[in-house]
Amino acid sequence: RLLIVDFGSQVTQLIARRLRELNIYCEIHPYQNVSDAFLKEFAPKAMIFSGGPDTVTREGSPRPPESAYKLGVPILGICYGQQVMMQDLGGKVEGGKISGGGGTAEFGRAFVTPTDEKLGLLDDWFADDKEQVWMSHGDHVSELAPGFRVFGTSPNAPYAITADTDRNFYAVQFHPEVHHTPNGKKLYENFIRAAGFTGDWTMGAYREEAIRKIRDQVGDKQVICGLSGGVDSSVAAVLIHEAIGDQLTCVFVDHGLLRQNEADEVVGMFRDNYNIPLIHADESELFLGELNGVSEPEIKRKIIGRLFIDVFQKHANAIEGAEFLAQGTLYPDVIESVSFSGGPSVTIKSHHNVGGLPEKMGLKLVEPLRELFKDEVRALGRELGLPDSFIGRHPFPGPGLAIRCPGEITREKLEILRKADAVYIDQIRKHGLYDDIWQAFVAVLPVRTVGVMGDGRTYDFACALRAVTSVDGMTADYYPFSHEFLGETATRIINEVQGINRVTYDITSKPPGTIEWE
Ligand code: XMP
Repeated sequence: RLLIVDFGSQVTQLIARRLRELNIYCEIHPYQNVSDAFLKEFAPKAMIFSGGPDTVTREGSPRPPESAYKLGVPILGICYGQQVMMQDLGGKVEGGKISGGGGTAEFGRAFVTPTDEKLGLLDDWFADDKEQVWMSHGDHVSELAPGFRVFGTSPNAPYAITADTDRNFYAVQFHPEVHHTPNGKKLYENFIRAAGFTGDWTMGAYREEAIRKIRDQVGDKQVICGLSGGVDSSVAAVLIHEAIGDQLTCVFVDHGLLRQNEADEVVGMFRDNYNIPLIHADESELFLGELNGVSEPEIKRKIIGRLFIDVFQKHANAIEGAEFLAQGTLYPDVIESVSFSGGPSVTIKSHHNVGGLPEKMGLKLVEPLRELFKDEVRALGRELGLPDSFIGRHPFPGPGLAIRCPGEITREKLEILRKADAVYIDQIRKHGLYDDIWQAFVAVLPVRTVGVMGDGRTYDFACALRAVTSVDGMTADYYPFSHEFLGETATRIINEVQGINRVTYDITSKPPGTIEWE
């Protein structure tokens, strides 16, 4: 197995992701934990030293133990990791700026050109004798450690790619793991080949490892899990159930704001296929009662968030001996909360989540997906046998249909919305577009318009169709349906859904719009 020593870079997890893509098993450990004894016990077959925010020119800055260099295994140092290697092995690093420009600092895109000598790490890497990379450094290596030679340079990093080929030590100034180093994966591929890995590790192996970790953490205690029917909480629940069986109880809170047949589908799937103990908390009367007459979006969100926590807590309290709360937290949630916490950002919407519950209820967290990205969670879900129709589902917001029903929420509007949404999604599926679209839904507008059907006048609700493409929900563009598709869908909705006589298509991107209407 491969050890990634984490010196605190924002993108360390991406290294692990690249390696998982290459079917290599790796573990990330913070440098503080990597002692001589740890290394002996872990016995890595190769190591990667990550980047980090500190400067090696500072006394007491993060270092690996000296024995790391004596294990006789290949090491790849990245950015701060490169500088650590140089300094530790007898070279020199200059700069001393932790961040900010000036001098030889370099942030952003750069181009590396090869030197004359060939290096296995760079096999099939350079295109047109130069290659785009992503730099983010204040310090730079100013003198190579003995045994190292230069194999690539950039205008501001004369030692962009260096190696001691006798010891299989490689050290690069840029970040091969990020998207902006388009061919970075090739470097990892070459590195692991040099380290003798065969690349036979799979999501099946991840599943086994995750199950072992859950068992170790939980012991014989009880775990509760809020199940929404979304991909993340579903995969987390199935995985944890596989690990600890009936020590897991799921709570599915039905707030009366779900889509057509959603509650039955979710509850049915978990009870019938997985036999997971599941409390179906039908609290629609409570939620719809409290939302009665409320039309301000933030107040809706706050009411739903508060009730959700109360209801979850009420049902969870009934589970004796629960000490853990399971959550489907993904890696992007972890990075966002680290890098953006405390920032002066404005609240656009009060997102609904169950954060705060663990402290309030005195529970510890089980988060088996913390290291994964969304597509990896989907792969794990497939590995666990979750049906594809479930795994590929579009995201659905915690406050549900409440935020797709601008203005006052009534049972009548919710019924209309459910039917129209079902027709719309059916159309999208029939035309084979579901997987091309990041999210699609109908919003029922708080406005009635006049129409004519048959020989009669109608005075019914208007609705808006929304469909967007996106990578992460942070930005989005509207989906370019054909006019034929839009026309056919509008006709079907008006014919099949009583209460709607006008259909519009929302062509706002995000920003300036948001994906949901509230
Ligand atoms: P917006 O509307 O902010 O939505 O552009 C971005 C993504 O987040 C989803 N969304 C939520 N998800 N709780 C959630 O779990 C919420 O309160 C919430 N509000 C919006 C939205 O569906 C879209 O995918």
